[in-house]
Amino acid sequence: MKTVAIVPAAGSGKRLNQIKEKPFIRLKSKPLLWYALSALNNSPFIDKIVLVVARKFVKKSRGLVKKYNLKKVEFIVPGGRTRSDSVLNGLNLVDKDTDYVLIHDGARPFLEACLIKKVVRAVKKFGACSVCVPIKPTIKEAKKGYITKTLNRKELWDTQTPQAFKKEIIIKAYKNQRLLKTSTDDSSLVEKLGYKVRVVIGSYRNIKVTTPEDLLLAKALLKR
Ligand code: CTP
Ligand code: MG
Repeated sequence: MKTVAIVPAAGSGKRLNQIKEKPFIRLKSKPLLWYALSALNNSPFIDKIVLVVARKFVKKSRGLVKKYNLKKVEFIVPGGRTRSDSVLNGLNLVDKDTDYVLIHDGARPFLEACLIKKVVRAVKKFGACSVCVPIKPTIKEAKKGYITKTLNRKELWDTQTPQAFKKEIIIKAYKNQRLLKTSTDDSSLVEKLGYKVRVVIGSYRNIKVTTPEDLLLAKALLKR
């Protein structure tokens, strides 16, 4: 059984608003992108990695992969305008003998080995799964300035990556152009096709570095 990881890291990092390019920002002397790649590279549950980066960083990323000896990185490809364009560019390089595809954002550095294991086990059993954590706040629905509903917190989840799928399912989902326009993550594409997506409970540490506050938090988490 072969599992390929796709790592979309081709965003522009607009909200991070730093001079240095987001994937190469240093966290404890290592580039941000190294963290996710290294976790996947070291996992016995991952066979190959397809890295997707902005076209202007393909060469630099090749240097990173070489420097840190990330042997499982098989391809480094340019991304697209949106995240799903980037994932699709990665999917196009997943070969025939692949059984499962795991997708993990390059902007999530705190990917733990045991979470990769949990996700790969779940995808083998259920065909589709997404890491989620229970939401912390109480969420209200409001219309015209008044609260109309308090949602049941026990049923609400904050989705993260990794998300993983049987290869045929995720390829089918990405062929549907109409779905691509309205979905914000890979799981929702698969949900809309009618497949059941299994929840894998993740950790609050598995943050996505999007804004300067996230970067501060990432640095604090690394100190511990
Ligand atoms: N991504 C990608 N290709 C795109 C857009 C996003 O591969 N065209 C990736 C990002 O590199 C990141 C994840 O998808 O790993 C989205 O996380 P986010 O925090 O939104 O990163 P950016 O898109 O880089 O940030 P911003 O939206 O602020 O520009
Ligand atoms: Mg983005």
